[in-house]
Amino acid sequence: MSVVEIKSSQEAIELENKYGAHNYHPLPVVLSKAEGVYMWDVEGKKYYDFLSAYSAVNQGHAHPKIVGAMCEQAKKLSLTSRAFYNDVLGKYEKFATEYFGFDKLLPMNTGAEAVETAIKLCRKWAYEKKGIPEEKAQIIVCENNFHGRTTTIISFSNDADARKNFGPYTPGFIKIAYDNTEALEKALTENDNVAGFLVEPIQGEAGVYVPSEGYLRKAKALCEKHNVLFIADEIQTGIARTGKLLAVDHENVKPDILTLGKAISGGVYPVSAVLANNEVMDVIKPGQHGSTFGGNPVAAAVAIAALEVVQEEKLAERSEKLGELFRAKLNEYIKDTDIVSLVRGKGLLNAIVINDTEDSSTAWDICMALKENGLLAKPTHGNIIRFAPPLVITEEQLLDCVKIITSTIDKF
Ligand SMILES: Cc1ncc(COP(=O)(O)O)c(C=O)c1O
Repeated sequence: MSVVEIKSSQEAIELENKYGAHNYHPLPVVLSKAEGVYMWDVEGKKYYDFLSAYSAVNQGHAHPKIVGAMCEQAKKLSLTSRAFYNDVLGKYEKFATEYFGFDKLLPMNTGAEAVETAIKLCRKWAYEKKGIPEEKAQIIVCENNFHGRTTTIISFSNDADARKNFGPYTPGFIKIAYDNTEALEKALTENDNVAGFLVEPIQGEAGVYVPSEGYLRKAKALCEKHNVLFIADEIQTGIARTGKLLAVDHENVKPDILTLGKAISGGVYPVSAVLANNEVMDVIKPGQHGSTFGGNPVAAAVAIAALEVVQEEKLAERSEKLGELFRAKLNEYIKDTDIVSLVRGKGLLNAIVINDTEDSSTAWDICMALKENGLLAKPTHGNIIRFAPPLVITEEQLLDCVKIITSTIDKF
């Protein structure tokens, strides 16, 4: 048996189609190299990355400091499991808890695992600290949420494709409208056993829905009033993406539980984390939760470097400033076109809404044309295209991308 050599994009696509499960519908581009804001396909064509692996590559592709930290650590010690201590995890936990302002961190690998961890932590806190009767804890979630793909998480999704034929579903969730504090207040008042409120500060996958000003602040106050944990899922919005370190920082809200993933590693390694203060985190005891790879020395070294880069390169400030510029330019443009009805976002997490029905192929067709013109982006849901370049993009590069986007849309 031998490993085939890939000579063309077509060949790579055929191999994935034949031998891989069809659980994604990728744009037909086969990438083989990336650096900073650029990616190259197998044939050598160069593209701007306008997705950043769903906001994982905020620090830019192949950041030398992050890749360097990974290689150095991998050569020294890669995995011990948590059966033993390692000499990087504690250092990372101290650094990251001080960085985000929490007492403790629980390390995991993927975003969905971090959300699962937050749910377990919240339920355990509810039984052991709040005194909710056994098996009765409820967590309030929002319509059109996206928190990952595990069985429990898809149990409270309202995306038909994500759910269908994966039941029976995990009970214990109450779904309410997003960006609606009245619905939250009603759910909190009508249900005695609410343990937590799980929310994305901006709904990324749903199409970059930015809630009304004050929503998060009011929601947090309601949670406090009802002794319910406010759980912010910042896996996509966190780590400088929206123009602040965390999206909740726009409203000075401190979550009781924070989930992070994606850019906590700069996209070079799967790293996720749950942060909370002692009052909550200390309910988890040995044997009650864990993961073989969670908190491994490579992940810890990578996360330290990735978080340092965010500070050193002032990525939140860049994202805030360039996001303003991007939206200003696109808003100016859409005054004279019928194709795009709306531009929305915060920092460098933005989306345009295409003026067509939700099931039309226009957004996909525009992304295909953008690809031809050297920019990679993907529709989120239906007629919405998300634009999220690495935060290291320069003003000049961003303006070049605006030109590519507008001249591409002009052709439709
Ligand atoms: C808000 C949010 N939570 C959780 C996840 C799941 O992360 P992962 O794909 O690493 O499991 C995502 C992924 O897009 C996300 O956007």
